[in-house]
Amino acid sequence: MELATSHPGFADPVYRDRRNGIAALALNHTPGDPIPVAEYTDEEHHVWALVTRELAVKHEKYAVREFLDAAARLGLPADRIPQLQEVSDLLHPLTGFRYLPAAGLVPLREFYGVLADGLFHSTQYIRHHSVPFYTPEPDVIHEVIGHANTLASPRFAELYRAAGRAARRVETDEALEFVSKVFWFTLEFGVMREDGEVRAYGAGILSSYGEIEEFRGMDIRPLDLVDMGTTAYDITKYQETLFEAASFDQLEDVVGEFWDTCDDDAVRRLASHAPTT
Ligand SMILES: [Fe+2]
Repeated sequence: MELATSHPGFADPVYRDRRNGIAALALNHTPGDPIPVAEYTDEEHHVWALVTRELAVKHEKYAVREFLDAAARLGLPADRIPQLQEVSDLLHPLTGFRYLPAAGLVPLREFYGVLADGLFHSTQYIRHHSVPFYTPEPDVIHEVIGHANTLASPRFAELYRAAGRAARRVETDEALEFVSKVFWFTLEFGVMREDGEVRAYGAGILSSYGEIEEFRGMDIRPLDLVDMGTTAYDITKYQETLFEAASFDQLEDVVGEFWDTCDDDAVRRLASHAPTT
């Protein structure tokens, strides 16, 4: 894959080779086989250790309790990048989820659909070591520190599965996009009221050293399916619009229930209520 000139690894041919080699492991992987071992450099393990240490401090301050408890149960290594097979083996006994290696972006229907089977597509390469706290693309830090820690919670894991069932149930691309936007504004970038504070549970916030310090200052709106399913977002920037669940129960009642029941007609009716501005 060609990297954009703005990618921090663009001018580093050794990094590009390794990144592309790791991505290629996923292309040759057959589901059910052990996930191929990715070779990382000492510098890359150091990036993981640094980010893990710094994020752990921020998680105590900003993450919801359910995430902190799940992360403690999962017990990811702090000093080195775990192999995806190892992550999968730690996760499976907790919530039944397993990891699948992905070369990069996976088509929406495939990515979301297999969540229903307890499978999570994950990139395996890591960001460039020159900028440990930034990545322009999902990397193993986002996929594992953000998502695996969340997937170690039975309550969150059930929401991921429900999103997968919804993605399989809807047939039109419009409905799938609506379902995926609700996922974006909840399981990727959701925040929640807890003990009188706004705390994060979205994997995108919880894996981002910069964004986790900024989310409380964003435009935070109440949890609303129509608003989430029809609001545009830009993946290259910090998310300026966030949606706050009043509680975990509300997240399950509103979003879990939507994913559990929605079909093309239901999504069309919801989308028709969106403001036309
Ligand atoms: Fe993600």
